[in-house]
Amino acid sequence: MAILVTGGAGYIGSHTVVELQNAGYEVVVLDNLSNASEKSLQRVEQITGKPVTFYKADILDKAALEDIFAKENIDSVIHFAGLKAVGESVQKPWEYYNNNITGTLTLLQVMREHGVKNIIFSSSATVYGTPAQVPVTEETPKGECTNPYGWTKSMLEQILQDIQKADSEWNVILLRYFNPIGAHKSGLIGENPSGIPNNLMPYITQVAVGKREELGVFGDDYPTPDGTCIRDYVHVVDLAIGHVKALKKIEDKAGLCIYNLGTGKGSSVLDIVHSFKEATGVPIPYSIKERRAGDIPENYANAEKAYRELGWKAQYGIKEMCEDSWRWQSKNPDGYGE
Ligand code: NAD
Ligand code: UFG
Repeated sequence: MAILVTGGAGYIGSHTVVELQNAGYEVVVLDNLSNASEKSLQRVEQITGKPVTFYKADILDKAALEDIFAKENIDSVIHFAGLKAVGESVQKPWEYYNNNITGTLTLLQVMREHGVKNIIFSSSATVYGTPAQVPVTEETPKGECTNPYGWTKSMLEQILQDIQKADSEWNVILLRYFNPIGAHKSGLIGENPSGIPNNLMPYITQVAVGKREELGVFGDDYPTPDGTCIRDYVHVVDLAIGHVKALKKIEDKAGLCIYNLGTGKGSSVLDIVHSFKEATGVPIPYSIKERRAGDIPENYANAEKAYRELGWKAQYGIKEMCEDSWRWQSKNPDGYGE
């Protein structure tokens, strides 16, 4: 039996394929390469010493999905495929709703037709909107999202819950990621944004490697100790291991489960800038800019439920996250070079 990993050539997907192969799972990857390079999978093979079965296919393409489900003996799906740029989603809402929602509905249709009813879905802390209190637990009510990307996650959570409610043969695990950063220890795979990075750590590493002059820190007048926003940064390898633990839960008939995947610790933007210098020796020049629209002052997880029910706990701290992000960027200044 194999695990189908949609979006498996991407940042979190490629790290998860490594951990799945290391845990002995047979893995089939599907990706349309809209935001990834096939080279990431060659690097995965280099790390694990095992071949990766890869299909260049789109989750909107029902015939292509049917072909994969007919050929491969799929047992469960880990569903990463999706568009994820917050700002772009405001400019192109139709593209985001179509790709993420229609794509997922198509995938679910083909899964159902082939009797595959196990899915782990990449959700996000963004579904909490602006939480009234931190840390957020899974019982914290979902909130208003500030952009179409966030709404696709929130709506897909609802869709998956309703499908599981109507047919208890489904096992659905919603994983709400906080802020994944870092890279595999080997420096062979990592985050490979195209164009100007939107997210903090890829921007910092591009400043460090000399591709950008300085970091703009978006706002220092938030109600936080140093005035910059607080997030829960979690090492991508820890996140990847969370998916392996979630698969074990599926094997025990999970039904519907929701977990926060974060460290439980908040760090400010300036904490990350200073930790990066401490961990790597490379200073990051920065200047304070206007607040970025849609940012919330503070968000971090209570991740105790994942520990209680999955036995998952983040192992790595900010120091390793900075060291590993830097190893990846400094060894691959142009990412996968495409
Ligand atoms: P990523 O862009 O690196 O990976 C997503 C992959 O999906 C890419 O390889 C892309 O080519 C592929 N893809 C997109 N649309 C597709 C389609 N229609 N058919 C087939 N493949 C398609 O992003 P990531 O950071 O690895 O994120 C993975 C998942 O986790 C996404 O669903 C994202 O929304 C979610 N997530 C990410 C973060 C984060 O900060 N990185 C936080 C919360 C949730
Ligand atoms: N930031 C800067 N300068 C930059 C980039 C970011 O100061 O150049 C700041 C942001 O203002 C924010 C913090 O760094 O305060 C983190 O920003 P990111 O863009 O790295 O992460 P976000 O928390 O905004 O967003 C992430 C994911 C989203 C997801 C969200 C859920 O990128 O996909 O977490 O909480 F929806």
